[in-house]
Amino acid sequence: SPRRFFVGGNWKMNGDKKSLGDLINTLNAAQLHPDTEVACGAPAIYLDFARSKLSSTIAVAAQNCYKVPKGAFTGEISPAMIKDCGVEWVILGHSERRHVFGESDELIGQKVAHALERGLGVIACVGEKLDEREAGITEKVVFEQTRVIADNVKDWSKVVLAYEPVWAIGTGKTASPQQAQEVHEKLRHWLKAKVSEEVADSVRIIYGGSVTGANCKELGSQGDVDGFLVGGASLKPEFVNIINARA
Ligand code: G3H
Repeated sequence: SPRRFFVGGNWKMNGDKKSLGDLINTLNAAQLHPDTEVACGAPAIYLDFARSKLSSTIAVAAQNCYKVPKGAFTGEISPAMIKDCGVEWVILGHSERRHVFGESDELIGQKVAHALERGLGVIACVGEKLDEREAGITEKVVFEQTRVIADNVKDWSKVVLAYEPVWAIGTGKTASPQQAQEVHEKLRHWLKAKVSEEVADSVRIIYGGSVTGANCKELGSQGDVDGFLVGGASLKPEFVNIINARA
């Protein structure tokens, strides 16, 4: 496929300047496949630190942002501030934002629109919970989450869609390559029907949920899996192997 492989790391609320600095040194020194696009999701307070230390060939992502440029919104950060630190991407709609912090589809849609307007790339996350999968409503859930995102996108070249089944996040229960491929393929068909064939063919759909150095090659060989969003393993040297899964 012509889609460039994309591997995002999501450090979540982990690390300190010492450990993240060591990780950054490891990434800077590693042989990373030049055809793979890489972005590291740093905690807000370390965005500037990560951007100043990481090689320019590795992008940085914020893990969240607010929906307006500035104002009386204590504790929030704006896309303008993220851009001001030289940071290129923002992760939006992550399952922890949805389910731990109660972010609605509507708020996530507003954030997607504003981040794109301000020139950030957006890694937009969708995914069903275990009870939803067991109830047979996986497609309904991920299509509805994707619809609200899609309603807020004009330029799809700046969007990467991340499919992250909630039951696979941080649990060690990776979706099987077949389970991941099935949802990715359905999402691509949905995009073809609801957005355009061109967008369906070009948008990267990446998988997240207990991706490791050991399972990344088989997952990454599926036709509609265009990369990964990696949590726990993105804090370890094995992240290099995941970046190079397609090498
Ligand atoms: O954003 C990353 C996902 O939440 C996956 O996390 O690799 O620790 O399961 P995990």
